[in-house]
Amino acid sequence: MNRARWARYWDRKSDRYDAEMMRWDQRLFGDSRPWACSKARGEVLEVAVGSGLNLPHYPPDVQLTGVDFSTKMLDLAAERAASLNRAIRLLRADAQRLPLADNSFDTVVCTFGLCAIPDNEAALDEITRVLRPDGLLILVDHVVSTSRFIRAGQWLVERITVPLAGEHFLRRQLPLVRARGYTIVQAERFRHGLVERLVATRLR
Ligand SMILES: C[S@@+](CC[C@H](N)C(=O)[O-])C[C@H]1O[C@@H](n2cnc3c(N)ncnc32)[C@H](O)[C@@H]1O
Repeated sequence: MNRARWARYWDRKSDRYDAEMMRWDQRLFGDSRPWACSKARGEVLEVAVGSGLNLPHYPPDVQLTGVDFSTKMLDLAAERAASLNRAIRLLRADAQRLPLADNSFDTVVCTFGLCAIPDNEAALDEITRVLRPDGLLILVDHVVSTSRFIRAGQWLVERITVPLAGEHFLRRQLPLVRARGYTIVQAERFRHGLVERLVATRLR
């Protein structure tokens, strides 16, 4: 599926994104945004930054760069940053091919992005390339459930969401992160394993 089509999809969805996502945050994801962002340090890259819902949760002393391929989502992130008086460099770019130098970030954060990025493995390769070896990778996402009944539902839902919205429900990032040489420093899974959040590093 081509990149321009999905960027247009997210442009169209941007108007209702915050309202929808805030409901999911309350129902399912809990305190995952502050959980993830409070651990960030130094030069921070947020991949698939979207409308910037994480921005209020970063420590004040980090230097933020946000990447997304939807112009309208980036516009919302810029507005949010301005209203918070928070400096951020925003780049319109494909997470599968980041226009950023090797080893240039201390932390990479990605929340609810790897379920939507068409090639999540390519994005993880790019994240690994730009993250310093002693850097922190912080991920939060909905993943394939530990319950086989819910998994069956996720399989059914994906028949619709993957072709129409590019949204995957059967992915799990943790094994892909391990396969790239990271050590998992912290991992939590809840709501029948539907939500997983993790912190990983390659130096241990
Ligand atoms: C579900 S939203 C998550 C936004 C934000 N991370 C959050 O936590 O609210 C998914 C985001 O991924 C972005 N996205 C999807 N595929 C992408 C890609 N290949 N490169 C950059 N951004 C992408 C979309 O534009 C959208 O903003």
